[in-house]
Amino acid sequence: MIEIICPVCGEALTEQDRSYTCPKGHCFDKAKEGYVNLLTASHKPGSNIGDNKDMALNRKNFLSKGYFDALVRGLIEFIEEKSLPRPTIADICCGEGYYGERIKNAIDCDLFGFDLSKEMVRLAAKRKNGITYFVGNLSKIPVRDSSVDIGLHLFAPFHEKEFGRIIKDDGYILSVVAGENHLFELKELLYDTPYKNDEKAPDTKDLKLAEKRKFTARVHLETNEDIMSLFKMTPYYYHTKDEDKAKLMGLDSLDITTEFVMFVYTH
Ligand SMILES: C[S@@+](CC[C@H](N)C(=O)[O-])C[C@H]1O[C@@H](n2cnc3c(N)ncnc32)[C@H](O)[C@@H]1O
Ligand SMILES: [Zn+2]
Repeated sequence: MIEIICPVCGEALTEQDRSYTCPKGHCFDKAKEGYVNLLTASHKPGSNIGDNKDMALNRKNFLSKGYFDALVRGLIEFIEEKSLPRPTIADICCGEGYYGERIKNAIDCDLFGFDLSKEMVRLAAKRKNGITYFVGNLSKIPVRDSSVDIGLHLFAPFHEKEFGRIIKDDGYILSVVAGENHLFELKELLYDTPYKNDEKAPDTKDLKLAEKRKFTARVHLETNEDIMSLFKMTPYYYHTKDEDKAKLMGLDSLDITTEFVMFVYTH
């Protein structure tokens, strides 16, 4: 079972119709989409709170086409291998909720997701898929110690201390980064000297790197809209000169490599 705790006092939060409350009377109202904002003043970052609305929508449009299925299959395969009875799964930095939903559809589990970006969580909650979503900060995840079987951690900042705290003694963190060849063809189009991604696992002291798996697939992007959505959900979009961006404008399709590396962490 998901054990969400009050971000103020650490006691259990109970879900009611329109809010979550703790025994000490701290109360957090649900937004109309059904998610709850559990960011407290001390864990609210400055003005730049997670990804913005544009990034959220591009990510949602692109992922919904199934172009990153190789990763979805790899995640599901790993979880199924473990044969856990109704595991509790955390979608850490869930974004707009695509991967969590695919996993929930494939596996009988309790799943919750959180992200620092309200825009992302709002989109995720609109899915109405039985997943509990909240706005929260990775640096203080409001869930009970040792309550999570599997933490999904896809393309997001790493927080060893919190990951170690929330997973059970025999729990896992599945931390995914882009593989060295991921989207290389896109970079070849944009840059004179494209470079490969660094597949380095985050350094850890307390968690153990138990396994590394790589998922690679070639996909065919079918429209310019898909190519631009992909480009806009990558960091390259924000670091590319306008004249280089223009190189993608006339493209109607693109064959491209998708490659993901999954690092499996345990206690
Ligand atoms: C590249 S997106 C990946 C989203 C999702 N995991 C996916 O693969 O679709 C990174 C996400 O991390 C979130 N994020 C960044 N810093 C965070 C923090 N300190 N706490 C929670 N989420 C954070 C961003 O808002 C963004 O949604
Ligand atoms: Zn409380």
